[in-house]
Amino acid sequence: MKQIPSFLGLMAILAVCIAQTSCQSKEEIFRQQYVVEGMMQYEKHCENCHQKDGSGLKDLYPPLAKTDLWKRLNANQIACIIKNGQKEAILVNQKPYQNYMPGNAKLEALDVAEIITYLRDKWGNDPRIFPLDSARLALKNCP
Ligand code: HEC
Repeated sequence: MKQIPSFLGLMAILAVCIAQTSCQSKEEIFRQQYVVEGMMQYEKHCENCHQKDGSGLKDLYPPLAKTDLWKRLNANQIACIIKNGQKEAILVNQKPYQNYMPGNAKLEALDVAEIITYLRDKWGNDPRIFPLDSARLALKNCP
């Protein structure tokens, strides 16, 4: 008596798992591509200053890992910082920074989308893709 429902239950769980992985995987594979491309862009354009582990450098470059950045700024604002740079006084984890980050005029919207997807995945505790369309729109509306 007891074994039958649990066997059926197991089959039901299995069926749901199979269904979920197969419908997730296409989007997830696409997102992972963004993450990998974003990582390569990060190494090329960001790592010199913000460091490979995102810890930043002394009083010069703010961290991108373990930071309140994700509470202060949304992805659209980060897209504009990446593209146009920044030179304002900012407070990061209560610590003041005022330095110059050069812009990346040559980066395409796709590059920016990939970098943000990577940053979110790695340090933002946010495994969502930042889609190309959103990056295009954000960059169009930069202040
Ligand atoms: C030449 C060094 C340098 C490079 C290269 C650089 N940054 Fe920065 N970044 C800075 C500095 C300096 C600041 C702080 C600027 C300020 O004081 O307003 C900053 C600020 C930021 C901020 C805002 C931080 C916060 O907590 O408000 C983000 C996000 C950011 N950078 C991301 C990136 C990304 C992504 C890249 C690569 C595309 C990049 N940076 C490349 C130096 C750099």
